[in-house]
Amino acid sequence: MNIEHKIAIITGASSGLGAAVASALVAKGAKVYGLARNITKLSQLKTQLGIDFVPIEMDVSDYDAVTKWVDETFVDRIMPDILINNAGVGSFGKIDEMPTKNWLKMIDTNLNGMYYITSQIAALMKKKGDVAHIINIGSILGSTSRAEAAAYSTTKYGVQGFSEALYQELRAFNIKVTCFNPGSIETDFFESSGIIPHRNMLQPKALADTLVHILETPDNMLINEITVRPLNPKRSLTT
Ligand SMILES: NC(=O)c1ccc[n+]([C@@H]2O[C@H](COP(=O)([O-])OP(=O)(O)OC[C@H]3O[C@@H](n4cnc5c(N)ncnc54)[C@H](OP(=O)(O)O)[C@@H]3O)[C@@H](O)[C@H]2O)c1
Repeated sequence: MNIEHKIAIITGASSGLGAAVASALVAKGAKVYGLARNITKLSQLKTQLGIDFVPIEMDVSDYDAVTKWVDETFVDRIMPDILINNAGVGSFGKIDEMPTKNWLKMIDTNLNGMYYITSQIAALMKKKGDVAHIINIGSILGSTSRAEAAAYSTTKYGVQGFSEALYQELRAFNIKVTCFNPGSIETDFFESSGIIPHRNMLQPKALADTLVHILETPDNMLINEITVRPLNPKRSLTT
C-alpha cells in the first residue's frame, strides 16, 4: 500500500507506540485519526504533527461513543484504509489479589474495544473495496505467559485468536490483517502497569518504522503475524 493520502485510524494514539505510529504515518502523508481518552495529550501531538492528525477523545470500550463517531466520520468518499488497534492497558498481580475491576478493564479495553471498532471499520473497508489493512497490537504475552499475568495474557491471546480468524475471513475482501506482537517497549505502559522495566527495551519509533514497512508491502503480500523482541533484555533496573 502506498500510505500517502490514505486515511488511518489509530487507537491509543496519545502516548507510546500509538503516538509514534501516528507520527510515522503523518510523515508518510496519511491523514490520521488518533483516538484516546486523554485529549490534552492528543492536542499536544496535533501541535507537533499538524493538520493531518485529527485528535479524537474516545474511550474505545464505550460502544455507543465508537458507533456514533464512526457513523458521523465516515461518509461518502471518506472511508478508512488503515486501522491500528493499539489501545491497551495492563495490570499484573496474583489471581486472588488483583481487583476484579482491573480484570474487567483489560477485557473491556484490549478485547471489547478492539472488537467494537474493528467490526464497524471492517464493514466500511469492505464497502470501499480497495486494499485495506487492520493491524492489531498483541504482545509476546499472547503466545506465552508468566505468573501474575493471567488477565493481560488472556486478552493478548484473545488478540492473537481474533487476528488469526479475521485474516482468514477478510483476505477475500482485500483486507489485510496483521497481529503485531512486541516484547517490552519503552513507554508509559510499565509505569501504569506497575511492573519493572529493563535497560534494553524496544523503542517506539523503531517499532513504528516496522509497522510502516508492513503497511507498505505489495498488495498481494500479507505479513499476518510478527513477533519483535529486544535482542538482549538483560538485567532489571533494580538489580
Ligand atoms: N510497553 C510494552 O512493553 C508493550 C509490550 C507489548 C505490547 N504492548 C501493547 O502495546 C500497546 C500500546 O502500549 P504502549 O506500550 O504504547 O503503552 P502506553 O504508552 O500506556 O499507551 C497506551 C495507549 O492506550 C490508550 N488507551 C488505554 N485505554 C484506552 C481506552 N479505554 N480508550 C482509548 N484509548 C485507551 C492510552 O491513552 P489514554 O490513556 O489517553 O486513553 C494510550 O494512548 C498496548 O496494546 C499494549 O498492550 C506494550
